[in-house]
Amino acid sequence: MLSKCALAARTASNGFRRWKSTREIIEKESKYAAHNYHPLPVALCRGEGVFVWDAEGKRYFDYLSGYSANNFGHCHPKIVETLRRQSGILHHTSRAFFNDVLGEYAEKVTKLFGYDKVLPMNTGVEADDTACKLARKWGYRKKNIPNNQAKIIFCSDNFWGRSLAAVSASTDPQSFEGYGPFMPGFSCVPFNDLQALETALSDPLVCAFMVEPIQGEAGIKIPADGYLKGVRRLCDKHNVLWIADEIQTGLGRTGKRLAVDYEDVKPDILVLGKALGGGVYPVSACLANDDVMLVIEPGTHGSTFGGNPLGSQVAIAALEVLEEEKVAENAKKMGDIFRRNLRDRLNKKVVIEVRGKGLLNAIVINRNYADAWDVCLKMKDAGLIAKHTHEDIIRFAPPLVIDENQLQESSDIISNTVNSIEL
Ligand SMILES: Cc1ncc(COP(=O)(O)O)c(C=O)c1O
Repeated sequence: MLSKCALAARTASNGFRRWKSTREIIEKESKYAAHNYHPLPVALCRGEGVFVWDAEGKRYFDYLSGYSANNFGHCHPKIVETLRRQSGILHHTSRAFFNDVLGEYAEKVTKLFGYDKVLPMNTGVEADDTACKLARKWGYRKKNIPNNQAKIIFCSDNFWGRSLAAVSASTDPQSFEGYGPFMPGFSCVPFNDLQALETALSDPLVCAFMVEPIQGEAGIKIPADGYLKGVRRLCDKHNVLWIADEIQTGLGRTGKRLAVDYEDVKPDILVLGKALGGGVYPVSACLANDDVMLVIEPGTHGSTFGGNPLGSQVAIAALEVLEEEKVAENAKKMGDIFRRNLRDRLNKKVVIEVRGKGLLNAIVINRNYADAWDVCLKMKDAGLIAKHTHEDIIRFAPPLVIDENQLQESSDIISNTVNSIEL
């Protein structure tokens, strides 16, 4: 006789699966994989749309979306079919040669976002690092900054990944402690503070200011209306490149194609990642016009996988889904309903704040009553998985293809869970 777990696993079987329960999966991963994350104790085996299933066949709403890589949902048929088809034709060549997909993708992504050129990379941190390299070189070539003296300004609480450069820019001790020495020429100003920015940018050695239009990992921090317009104005005034890190906020997440579209402003360098690969393949990109992009010449920057036919074809599919399915529009509509639901229903003693734009949202928990991790555990038991970003903040970022019934059902899970906390 097969156990209930084994039966569930076999039902989901596709030839790759091994016979395992949640407990066995967690034990094996904990034994052999580095402990650089502290996952919620749920072991996922299958996904479709806004749902994922664990080893025992229990279904969950996915309210993390793989840190916003799965904007188009799990196993989107068009994206999966594209991955399958292109991987059987030509998956990787390196850019030592031309391939028949990169040009098509480059044309699509540049025309969609209004830039002359794209520099293709893989992960988000690589694309942000690339943006910093581009800016430094532009600073030496075009702004005449003396060699090796260029400075880049970031915001406190920024997050752009885990490389040495990224943690050098970080103000979060968890990210940088123990990893020094750090990259010189990086400094921070407070987020949402145009006066501090103006002071920093007036230093003639500054080549760039890099900022997320909404700070994601910091806890979904939204700047005041007009901040991004102010950033554009100050960067123009001081001849500094504005790098917008839209790796998390881009591609529909905040209810517009880009978060900067809310203020109708255009960064000098736009950085995309995560959902650009449809959640199935790491694809990231730096977009810029020729006066910036062409400072990088053959042999001076690269990536083995960046721009390969598989990633490029998948990115074309992801961008087509974004447009064809009006994903940003849906995120806007669903996000408005979601925040209204939570504001109406959540116990205001327990949840101090509900904030967000589109489907990039967060609640702030009053730590006198609960901590975010415990609330996440309770929501998991009730059939919804989400992750905290700090001890008191939970991010809610479901796939952008969520429909209204699903949104209402998942809002109920969140409000019932929060409201069941004993005061
Ligand atoms: C705004 C932002 N930039 C960069 C990154 C780094 O992306 P990756 O983990 O793909 O390197 C992240 C990841 O969460 C992010 O949120």
